[in-house]
Amino acid sequence: MKMVIKVFETPFEVAEALALEIVDTVNRCKREKRIAAIAVSGGKTPLLFFTVLADHFSGAADWSNVHYFWVDERMVPSVSPESNYMIADQHLFQKISVPEENIHRIMGENDPSGEVIRYASEIRKYTPERNGYPLFDVVILGLGEDGHTASIFPGDEKLFRLRQVCYETMHPQTGQKRITISGRVINNAAAVYFLVAGKNKATVVNTILGEKPGRRLLPASRVSPSAGSLYWFLDGEAASEYRKNEAG
Ligand code: 6PG
Repeated sequence: MKMVIKVFETPFEVAEALALEIVDTVNRCKREKRIAAIAVSGGKTPLLFFTVLADHFSGAADWSNVHYFWVDERMVPSVSPESNYMIADQHLFQKISVPEENIHRIMGENDPSGEVIRYASEIRKYTPERNGYPLFDVVILGLGEDGHTASIFPGDEKLFRLRQVCYETMHPQTGQKRITISGRVINNAAAVYFLVAGKNKATVVNTILGEKPGRRLLPASRVSPSAGSLYWFLDGEAASEYRKNEAG
């Protein structure tokens, strides 16, 4: 696995750097005459990425050559402001033209146990396979202050070992039901990008990248795409403690 850590001064520059990477990937897939399969996360940081992509890169790639999936979803109706799909729809899909059939949302309005099966089958239908698991060209992850990523929370580390494509989980504080792709699927991707910004992430970033005690208890520390590349795109605030430690 190749790992790249890049620090940018502002959240905008983090989002812009990721957008450039995605443009390259989508154009490469087009040249190779295949679709690009991209899985996106929820939360505030990806929202900025969607906005930058739509506002500044809408003409830079053929976005209709992308199939869009979600890394995770809150089990709420798609019109809920809590919905990860809603964030992407409002800030990306309503600005760039994407065929409806290319959007593969997790149906938060469904019963979670049935949706886990339905969504796993939809992923498999539209993505190639490697090592028996779906192969995403890109997985975009956020990082929670508690070290969660996707909707894999501390205590759910087994989801990096178990063999289903996706699982039902629960937010530890709110009890909100979630569906998340598994750690095995994340680690099967060709490229995984952590998009992390803000001072409130500095400690957890340093624990993981600085290989501090307790890091293995943090699900995000288990993201390691064995046959792919892992990118940490950070703003200066999120990287502040890590940079200080690296400087000695
Ligand atoms: C979710 C996300 C989650 C998110 C992190 C970071 O559904 O909430 O998938 O994993 O990426 O919590 O969120 P922020 O970028 O908002 O800090």
